Amino acid sequence: MNTTAPTLSSKRLEGKVAIITGAASGIGESTARLFWAHGAKVVIADVQDDLGRAICQDLDDNAMYVHCDVTNEDDMRDLVDLTIEKYGKLDIMYNNAGVADNTAKSILTIEKSKLERVLSVNLVGGFLGTKHAARVMVPARKGCILFTGSATASIACTTNHSYVASKSGLTGLAQNVSAELGQFGIRVNCISPYAVATNMVKGLLPGGSTEQLEAFLSNAGNLKGAVLRADDVARAALFLASDDAGYVSGLNLVVDGGFSVANPSVAMALKQSH
Ligand SMILES: NC(=O)c1ccc[n+]([C@@H]2O[C@H](COP(=O)([O-])OP(=O)(O)OC[C@H]3O[C@@H](n4cnc5c(N)ncnc54)[C@H](O)[C@@H]3O)[C@@H](O)[C@H]2O)c1
Repeated sequence: MNTTAPTLSSKRLEGKVAIITGAASGIGESTARLFWAHGAKVVIADVQDDLGRAICQDLDDNAMYVHCDVTNEDDMRDLVDLTIEKYGKLDIMYNNAGVADNTAKSILTIEKSKLERVLSVNLVGGFLGTKHAARVMVPARKGCILFTGSATASIACTTNHSYVASKSGLTGLAQNVSAELGQFGIRVNCISPYAVATNMVKGLLPGGSTEQLEAFLSNAGNLKGAVLRADDVARAALFLASDDAGYVSGLNLVVDGGFSVANPSVAMALKQSH
């Protein structure tokens, strides 16, 4: 039995270098701030340049903004190369950038161009980020690759098909890449949250203010009395990125308060029958 006393540093990513795509707002921003607070050097990659730069101004020289459209392979190659140039290595690649499209809910009316846009950012972006991270992690024989999936890929709840297809693709990609990169000591995991009241979700769901949207989402969720926020997802990413998850790979960590495993239909039918 190992009786070693706990040695967890309060800074769980001290000395690590992390890229986070889609880090100018929402879950990516929260994660960038949390990783930085835990001692990581963070590279904020996004297409919203003003927002991304403003976050870096809040932080110090351990944060850098890089314009990167994740659908563009040249941007992704440059992002990884600039990170190595500035910080000397890459320990964590978090493929988080994403978009949603709610213009067509039905498979009968979905436009091919909108489907391709969602797949391009959410799925192809994840592929490219992984490919270029692996390019520098394989020779280093270590690394951690993360994706933001979605709980909507674990349960059919009539969310937009293109979004669900893109996120299902990411969980499959994460598993498959974990099988290829394990031999190089690289861990690959996915975080799949329930809905969070970020910019991406505002406008898609009822509720004008953040508070109203959070109240709606909390009511629709399985875990009552709780609200899922970007910081909660960031903490799941911190766990997976840290040495605490040193032997965790190929996991889809669903952060949804049980939403995707709970099926309330029998309880609802019983209620209606009374
Ligand atoms: N908010 C939710 O309910 C929820 C739930 C599950 C999963 N997610 C996923 O979390 C991730 C982050 O989304 P969020 O909720 O924080 O929304 P958000 O809109 O606040 O953040 C998404 C970020 O991605 C960036 N982005 C979009 N297209 C890009 C591109 N081509 N290249 C680079 N950056 C790009 C945006 O500029 C934005 O900063 C997404 O992958 C999303 O699908 C969100």
